[in-house]
Amino acid sequence: MAPINDVTDFSVENGIGILSLDSPPVNALSSAVRTGLLEGIQAAEADASVRAVVLICRGRTFIAGADITEFGGAAKGASLSAVQDAIENSSKPVVAAIHGTALGGGLEVALCCHYRVAVPSARCGLPEVNLGLLPGAGGTQRLPRIVGVEKALEMVTGGQHVPAPTCLELGLVDELASEDDLQASAIAFAEGVLAEGRPLRKVRESDDKLEASRGKPEIFEKFRAGIARRTRGFLAPEYNVRCIEAAVNSESFEAGLAVEQDLFRKLLTGPQSLAQRHVFFAERQIWKLPDVPRETPTIEVQKVGIIGAGTMGGGIAMNFANVGLPVTLVETSQEALDRGLGVIRANYERTASRGRITAEDVEARTGLITGTLAMEDLGDVDLVIEAVFESMPLKKEIFARLDGIAKPGAILASNTSALDINEIAQSTERPEAVIGLHFFSPANVMKLVEVVRGEATSDAVIATSMGLSKRIGKNAALVGVCPGFVGNRILAARQAQANRLVMEGAMPWDVDRVLFDFGLPMGPFAMSDLAGLDIGWNKAESRGETVRDVLCEMDRRGQKTSAGYYDYDAHRKASPSPVVEKVIREFAARGGNSARAMSDEEILERCVYPMINEGVKILDEGMAIRASDVDVIWISGYGWPVYRGGPMFYAEQVGLERVLARLQELQKEYGDAFAPAPLLEKMVAEGSSFRDLGF
Ligand code: 3HC
Ligand code: NAI
Repeated sequence: MAPINDVTDFSVENGIGILSLDSPPVNALSSAVRTGLLEGIQAAEADASVRAVVLICRGRTFIAGADITEFGGAAKGASLSAVQDAIENSSKPVVAAIHGTALGGGLEVALCCHYRVAVPSARCGLPEVNLGLLPGAGGTQRLPRIVGVEKALEMVTGGQHVPAPTCLELGLVDELASEDDLQASAIAFAEGVLAEGRPLRKVRESDDKLEASRGKPEIFEKFRAGIARRTRGFLAPEYNVRCIEAAVNSESFEAGLAVEQDLFRKLLTGPQSLAQRHVFFAERQIWKLPDVPRETPTIEVQKVGIIGAGTMGGGIAMNFANVGLPVTLVETSQEALDRGLGVIRANYERTASRGRITAEDVEARTGLITGTLAMEDLGDVDLVIEAVFESMPLKKEIFARLDGIAKPGAILASNTSALDINEIAQSTERPEAVIGLHFFSPANVMKLVEVVRGEATSDAVIATSMGLSKRIGKNAALVGVCPGFVGNRILAARQAQANRLVMEGAMPWDVDRVLFDFGLPMGPFAMSDLAGLDIGWNKAESRGETVRDVLCEMDRRGQKTSAGYYDYDAHRKASPSPVVEKVIREFAARGGNSARAMSDEEILERCVYPMINEGVKILDEGMAIRASDVDVIWISGYGWPVYRGGPMFYAEQVGLERVLARLQELQKEYGDAFAPAPLLEKMVAEGSSFRDLGF
């Protein structure tokens, strides 16, 4: 085997050139990889003994795309288009041999090969949209020429990884290879091409799949309407659609490619892709714990116990059943247990009715969840998650009892959203086993778990909790003990300001609209209506001291009573409520506030800058490991728009200096709720970024 450079080799076996690539972790198209590929194809071309070429990757995957870490840097080495031209124009057939994933630029390279074979477990896709991009190496022009316009639209805007057997049906791959010996299968395929004298097929030259969509603009309009809700605020999906449109409507392949290149450049240099690429790496950073070594031994979790089958307990149980782990669910009464198990079954049945799981899955998963009224039944589980009412005395009592029941080494977790994990841990003889696992509602859907580390929590318990969260498909962020932990603490800072804004003249629907337009799924008042205004409200103790008290006293308790901050019709469609407006105005007048007009910008800054400020305090106190963890928490737990990269990323985009200056102005006007975090002042004085300070 002759090395071309550090990451590519070229060898010849019985007249078949093997161009192999080995650039861990995912064979991304770095400058060295591109240069090696170009030189490899040139070597094959120059060697008269070579009759065909197989392009194959070592390690866990085929090329998983462009090297994202090189984006924004100076161009080095061979260009990707030079590599693609060399492959496509090779005088000898080139066969791509695919395993793992052929993604983005990786699939775009494969699409320049004359043929493609893949092992059955491989997957192919153009996921650039998830990075705020589009396939910028001809993918939007070649893909519809193979799979047709509608399928191509779906793939480039959805970014799915399509399994190889489906790729075979779509014509994306020509043959399924042996799972155990891809190279031998690919060589045999290449021999077949030579023996049969099959042509050097160039995808760019085929036009029949596009022909069917010409003169039918309604295909694109219908598609746009179908994805509008899901893609609200994102630029990349629309640009992807425009590229496929260009493939259909352009006079030549080159003209379509020029449109693709132009739109790709716009996205690559724009703010959304920068934010989405930040999130890609942030979601991979969260797993790295500076003081819990990667090799920390973990506890084997084979069985899970959950206490409380209410809103959270039921959803949490589903996460574990979904990955095949048996769950014992404890309740206080048969009625509560039956209700909880009923909700779980209904949830699964709804998912099955939408075709996402089968009827057998419903039975298998519900079958893994066993209800009981006896906490003693938790003696054999490896992890217990407590999800009873939010009451410290109750939680302490439960943990003290659990201490006598759970086997040695079991993890004792609480799903509390605000209570002190250290205090809970003190009610046991094994505080090192106690941890917070803060799921978000609905727990079977929301992607976030805050893993709350107590003073005494052991590394093994932390490492196991992180690993288990990953196993159930969550993003887990390790956080410290403080009121509201990270996510809700930042939420509280925003809520306090939202409440003040309505006292000064903005209406709940003004605040909600501004935050919705910013990209959040809903504003704070719509969220209260959804959750129920009466969470934590007590009728007997209510003295009408807040707008919420008054609304609850009027039985305006949110969507469930068809009235809260908004009025709701029979279809749960919200409209601004004149009653609420009157209540707020009277309240404000009593407090000596006269309503004044407020710009959208003021509303946004007063809601978002205190969140940033709180995030900086959290970092300074060591309650989150890094700024990008705070971003992941707010994206996966609260729907912060991915294309704005999370609150801390957003702060740096706006400029920390501007955020600080505005907080100082607001502090003068409205008091110390806006007092800037000392760390923020320091960062601005030094001109440092979160990354500079190791956050
Ligand atoms: N560039 C640079 N680094 C990458 C990368 C890429 N395209 N893809 C993955 N990595 C890195 C990750 O950051 C991670 O690094 P770390 O270990 O230091 O944290 C490491 O590779 C392993 O990645 P994962 O943890 O994600 O490994 P998995 O096995 O879970 O997943 C994967 C593998 C499915 C390939 C996943 O990494 C992935 O989806 N990667 C991105 C694929 C993609 O978006 N490709 C398109 C790129 S844009 C493009 O091609 C533009 C073109 O059209 C011109
Ligand atoms: P819930 O009221 O829906 O459910 C609590 C359940 O616990 C009830 O079914 C109750 O019968 C049961 N229970 C009470 N005492 C028990 C005992 N001794 N043994 C067994 N079961 C017992 O409450 P919810 O909303 O599920 O909240 C549970 C916990 O999760 C609370 O600590 C809450 O703060 C936290 N949480 C709630 C979120 C939410 O949005 N609802 C989000 C994140 C955390």
